[in-house]
This record gives sequence, C-alpha cells and structure tokens, in this order.
Amino acid sequence: MTVSSITVPRPDDWHLHLRDGAMLEGVVGYTARQFARAIVMPNLTPPVTDVAAAVAYRQRILDAVPEGMDFTPLMTAYLTDNSDPEEMRRGFAEGVFTAAKLYPAGATTNSDSGVTDIANIRGVLEVMAEIGMPLCVHGEVTSADVDIFDREAVFIDRILAPLVKELPEQKVIFEHLTSEQGVQFVGSAGENVAATITPQHLHINRNAMLVGGMRPHAYCLPVAKRERHRLALRRAATSGSSKFFLGTDSAPHAREAKESACGCAGIFNAPYALESYIAVFEAEDALDHFEGFASRHGPAFYGLPVNEETVTLEKRDCVVPDEIDVGAAKLVPFHAGETLGWTFVG
Ligand code: DOR
Ligand code: ZN
Repeated sequence: MTVSSITVPRPDDWHLHLRDGAMLEGVVGYTARQFARAIVMPNLTPPVTDVAAAVAYRQRILDAVPEGMDFTPLMTAYLTDNSDPEEMRRGFAEGVFTAAKLYPAGATTNSDSGVTDIANIRGVLEVMAEIGMPLCVHGEVTSADVDIFDREAVFIDRILAPLVKELPEQKVIFEHLTSEQGVQFVGSAGENVAATITPQHLHINRNAMLVGGMRPHAYCLPVAKRERHRLALRRAATSGSSKFFLGTDSAPHAREAKESACGCAGIFNAPYALESYIAVFEAEDALDHFEGFASRHGPAFYGLPVNEETVTLEKRDCVVPDEIDVGAAKLVPFHAGETLGWTFVG
C-alpha cells in the first residue's frame, strides 16, 4: 500500500539539548516547530543541578520560543556526587523537574560534574524510586580500559543491570540507545525500563564517521557502532514495543567546534527530525508503528497525556540544506545535502 501522508498526535522529543543564550535562541524554534514538549538536558556550564537553576533555565527557554509557537520544556536535574535527595523531592513535587539525569563523570559534553560512582547517589535514587521520579541515563562507562565502542555494553553489566535489580521500582530511561546489547537489555527488563533512540543511530553506523575521511558531523556520543547494532535499533524502534520511543539527542555545536582537532560530540538533527525518523519506518515497512514511537510511548512511560493537536507529514521530497545559520553559529544539520522522502507540513 502506498501512503501519501500521515497524521499523528504532535510528537514530543524525550531527549534534547537546547543550550543557552544566543544558541538557545537560534535553535529552539526548530524543535518547537515539530514537537509539543521536550525533555531538556541539563548539561549547561554550570550544570542545572537545583530547582532555582531549572526554574530560571525553563524561563529562558520559554522566552526564546518564537512568537506564536507553543512549546513546553520539561526540565531535568543534573545529578552530581553531591546531589541532595530533598532537592530532587522538592523539584519533582513542584513540577519543576520531570526527571533527573545521570551522566557518568567524563562521559560526554559538560559531564565533568557528573557522578563518579553510582554509590554516591544511592540516597537520591532511593528517594526518586519512592516518589516515582524517572531517571534518564547516559549509559556509558568511562574507564580508560574500556574501548569506546564497548562502553554501553559494559555499562549495562557493571552499572545498569545491578541498579535495576536493586531498585526495580525506579523508572529508568536508557537514553540514546546504540547497541544490540542495549536493545536486548531494555526489551527483557521490567516495565519500568524504557529507551529513547535517535535518528542518527537508526540511519548511520560507524562507517559514516570513518570511511573516506574523518567525518566530524557524524560524531556523537555514544558513538554509532557496527551495522548489526544499527539493525537491532531499527528493529526495536519499528517493532511497536512501547519500551522504545523518540528522543533526538539533537546537540548543536558550531561548525568550527566540530571541524576541529578535538571535535565536539553531538549531531544537530532538530530541523528535520520527524522526516528522518519516518524514513526509517517507511523503509522497514512499519509506518503503522510510527505513531506509537513518535507520539504515544513516551507520554505513556512518563505518565503524561498524549498531545491533542496533530501534525502531518507528506510523502514529498525535502532537501536538507548543507548548513543552517542560527545567528549564534553556523550549524551542519544531520542529513546535510541529502534529500529525504517526507516533508513535515505542520
Ligand atoms: O553527542 C552528544 N552530545 N552526546 C551527549 O551525550 C551530549 C551531547 C552534547 O551535549 O553535545
Ligand atoms: Zn544527549
């Protein structure tokens, strides 16, 4: 059957980097155009660790949303070795924090203040489990002896599996899943464990980064892995399982910060996120599962209503520009220079 358009409840982005200041002002409209809500990552400098900082950041985001657009940022608390369980309890009760974010220290951009040992946040996790506050997890170990391509799998064995066993009532979102071990773990874990999947990890494997030259715009963390991992992710995302849902991990860095001797990790995919995802569902002959992944599984896991508004994508070519000038910086979007087969019409 050929489909010429698809209308679904307005999706949400369950993992997003909006940055701050001029970059925030330049990028937030791209997300607000397609998504109703987004889980906003707290890895600013300094990180968003307490309620007051999250309230202030939320207001800066709202102030930056272009006129006439309706967008709700859902804030997260950046966990550190010194996080105060009572601050989490208060932020969650007041509706400021939707979730807390675990960055293993040193795992990625602005994670230096992250958690050095999971034992250090045991008290926080106990309170979160008690009050039903979800934990968003960057699932990579950082030990120098672990190969970067194995860091997700080792994180499952060393950190996540024991954690889920000890605190089975804790809601965990294994973010930006990149490996077949991750798919297997989430798929066989209890109902409190879910995962987000980015567009890039559905489209590219590590060859995109390394064949024919080093391609910094395909570099993000966790890094794209071998083809069999990409295929496992595509099966999971398009399977219809409510454990897997949309989270772009759109992470803007100026072109020159990526095209550098030590290029930043992160792919700016917000402008064509839905076009990118739906291409995968079409190729996998799973367009009937797109709505669940994009619009329903995330709200269900977070205990939030599905958005009432709808959005439509049409089966018509959409050319992704080579570069997008957001004022604060020139950004190279995911799929730069490619033509995608779907167009977001709002
Ligand atoms: O590629 C990434 N970029 N992965 C992350 O975990 C962080 C993000 C960023 O903030 O740039
Ligand atoms: Zn991220």
